[in-house]
Amino acid sequence: MEQIDYFRNIAYREMERLAAQGLYPEGFGKEAYEDMKRWEKTVRPDMLFCGAPHILIPHAPLGRGEPVQDVVIAGTYFELLCASRGLGAVMMTFPLSVLNLMPEIKAMLEIPEEHYIGMMIGFGYPQIPYARGTQRTVEQKRVHRLSFTNSDT
Ligand SMILES: Cc1cc2nc3c(=O)[nH]c(=O)nc-3n(C[C@H](O)[C@H](O)[C@H](O)COP(=O)(O)O)c2cc1C
Repeated sequence: MEQIDYFRNIAYREMERLAAQGLYPEGFGKEAYEDMKRWEKTVRPDMLFCGAPHILIPHAPLGRGEPVQDVVIAGTYFELLCASRGLGAVMMTFPLSVLNLMPEIKAMLEIPEEHYIGMMIGFGYPQIPYARGTQRTVEQKRVHRLSFTNSDT
């Protein structure tokens, strides 16, 4: 069995066991969790890791340098790298909240406890060719342009 499937099964089972006891990932109540379970029937069968065949988890030690920015940069560049090689990528934070409920299973990832994890990135050859045009326009009101005048000083 692929390593990711082994891990996915263990984490998924535990997520369901905890949910049955009323323990949901941070930011998810019963209703949101049950919505997600329903989407598994229509959107994708694995809402935990989005069915990803591979997962990258950038992490960096807290208290040294800029771990938050560093891992977000690593994640975003990795997504671009995937796109440039014809791979699909999906950024995920839901599994982080899920794994925080199960420290022993999270420890299987061998990420030191004092490390910051910003996201997980699932990637692999896409099942579905998905074409979406580049969004070339931005609503002007979303850009806040400063306009200083001499009278400000
Ligand atoms: C920081 C971040 C975290 C996300 N976490 C999840 C997640 O845990 N699970 C999920 O299904 N989608 C998550 N998403 C959404 C997907 O990564 C993706 O943006 C969404 O499925 C839309 O994909 P598309 O832009 O290719 O259409 C997250 C997105 C971001 C930016």
